[in-house]
Amino acid sequence: MREILVTSALPYANGYIHLGHLVEYIQTDIWVRAMKAQGHQVTYVCADDAHGTAIMLKAESNGITPEEQIASVKASHEADFAKFLIDFDNYHTTHSEENKHFSELIYRRLNSAGHISTRDVEQLFDPEKQLFLADRFVKGQCPECGAMDQYGDNCEVCGTTYDATDLINPYSTLSDATPVLKTSKHYFFDLPGFEQFLKDWTRSDNRLQVSVANKLQEWFDAGLASWDISRDAPYFGFKIPDTPSDEPDKYFYVWLDAPVGYMASFQNLCDKRKGGDNELDFDRYWMQENEHKTEVYHFIGKDIVYFHALFWPAMLAGSEFRTPTGVFAHGFLMVNGEKMSKSRGTFIKAETYAEHLHPEYLRYYFASKLSDKVEDINLDLEDFMQKVNSDLVGKVVNIASRSAGFLVKKYDGMLSDTCVESTLLEDITKTGDEIAAAYENREFARAMRLIMQCADKANEYIDDKKPWSLAKIEGTEQEVQDVCSVAINIFRQLMVYLAPVLPELTGNAKAFLNIDDLSFASRNQWMLGHKINKFKPLMQRIEEKDVAAMVEDSKASLTQTDAPAVSNDTKAVADKKNTEQTEDTADDYIGIEDFAKVEMRVAHVVECSHVEGADKLLQFTLDVGEDKPRNVFSGIRKFYEPEQLTGKKVICVTNLAPRKMKFGVSEGMVLSTGDPKTGLTVVTLPDECVVGDKLA
Ligand code: 2FM
Ligand code: ZN
Repeated sequence: MREILVTSALPYANGYIHLGHLVEYIQTDIWVRAMKAQGHQVTYVCADDAHGTAIMLKAESNGITPEEQIASVKASHEADFAKFLIDFDNYHTTHSEENKHFSELIYRRLNSAGHISTRDVEQLFDPEKQLFLADRFVKGQCPECGAMDQYGDNCEVCGTTYDATDLINPYSTLSDATPVLKTSKHYFFDLPGFEQFLKDWTRSDNRLQVSVANKLQEWFDAGLASWDISRDAPYFGFKIPDTPSDEPDKYFYVWLDAPVGYMASFQNLCDKRKGGDNELDFDRYWMQENEHKTEVYHFIGKDIVYFHALFWPAMLAGSEFRTPTGVFAHGFLMVNGEKMSKSRGTFIKAETYAEHLHPEYLRYYFASKLSDKVEDINLDLEDFMQKVNSDLVGKVVNIASRSAGFLVKKYDGMLSDTCVESTLLEDITKTGDEIAAAYENREFARAMRLIMQCADKANEYIDDKKPWSLAKIEGTEQEVQDVCSVAINIFRQLMVYLAPVLPELTGNAKAFLNIDDLSFASRNQWMLGHKINKFKPLMQRIEEKDVAAMVEDSKASLTQTDAPAVSNDTKAVADKKNTEQTEDTADDYIGIEDFAKVEMRVAHVVECSHVEGADKLLQFTLDVGEDKPRNVFSGIRKFYEPEQLTGKKVICVTNLAPRKMKFGVSEGMVLSTGDPKTGLTVVTLPDECVVGDKLA
């Protein structure tokens, strides 16, 4: 029996759980249940990620204390997880005594081993709110192309990345105040000092998926930098211990104590179970010397690999704790092939989903899509309905509903004493080995395919024997009982195989089958001369109207202002290190009256030229049918030579407020398609279009 500790990433305590989150919790929960069913001792812990500026500000805007904020969000998270049958052994919070203890312990050990240093950092500071501004809380004009209202880390117009301190006319998004530069002392963790350790760790013992290991190699090649682990007051978090008493308090950056939350939640569970018959020993799972006795796995999204595969193992190794046995990253959720969107109603809260549809539908659908790869998965709502209806209702449940009736009505629920189709049953029992391996390797899609192949075989068998026809022929009573008994035995095997994915359905099936075990090993016990109970429908078909109602409700519920804030701190780091699932927080509908405000006219490019000193811009002289031509800058220099556009007819937005840029005033905008990072194409119009005409 293996002893395994499993975690899912800790959700922030400032927003609700949505279907994007659930990919991970469902994936982890299925894995945990499958490993438990295979006889291992598995412990699954999680917690709310309760610290940081975003949570502090959210509490402030809600008019409550951070403690009240995190308590109410934790309760709502736990309720959502319970609905989706996520069976944590413990759910804690990072704002806990245990977490304070381990964060301080790890920090002190790192510090005394010389892995912590300090240096002054100059940052933008909001003089009204009296706090340092993370990049996402500063906006201003892009230093490169002059676009207005760009965030402090990169420009969405020209794609340039820069430091917040480079922004022209910066302002705080919290107070609109002009930030000032302020210096403060920061504490740094010496990540570069762990480079060799991390390189060895990454490549050994299959700890990481190949694509993740390759990503890490890119980060090694780019060079590791020491990590800023401190934040200044005001901050909701733990004070860094042992700082000089005559200096202002410093707090651990939320990402320092977040993964420590895994340990803290486990410690909390050890305490709860102390003295019981399922006691757990903290040291057995976390002490370096026990590293080979137990296993620790973290399930995470691809956006937080940097924290889990670099900072976290380095922190653990530097403080003499064991490192994870494996870190398993998954991709993001798309809905109907696109990023989740509020206006399309595909940004779906866990709660909203559960009001309309059974959570096990989603568990099965995600299982049928998940593999061990870091690939995005697509929830196609049409396919979701078809797959669940055809696989679970049409194939699996149908096996029982087609055979149980005869047994209960005619044989008082008794199954035959012998199995007349042992080859088929043996074949399906044996497939269980492959299914178990697929679960363990996180190849859930493969496991679901294998299970459905077994279900197909059972249905073919029933179709072939036709018990409903046999039942009409005299003298075939034994044969009808035998055929239905084979079918029910196969159904039991399928329940064993599906139990990690469908705990509720298979739990109900257990009652119907009158058995008390669905462990993997139990599939070897065939039910002979066994009495089953009356069959009750185990799953209803998904109705199109319920999916439609869920989508409608999502549109309604998410146009309110309760969208969760992504922790700005995380975002700033993750944006630079990796792709991130940005939430579609803006309400992306506009009314026709908004659209009508935009004036677009046919423009003739009289002149187009490079701009001295700006490597992203082209300068246009445009005739838009007015007395004098307009001057317009556009960030397309990378994609065009001026001659290619001179003389062309293009579309110019003519009622955009003039923008003062470093190189002059831009009096409009030339429309193009594409992505400023990878390629833009200027929209050109046929020659017959009349200069100055409005687009309608
Ligand atoms: O990205 C996030 O949502 C973080 N709250 C995950 C933290 S995982 C762990 F490190 F705590
Ligand atoms: Zn720019």
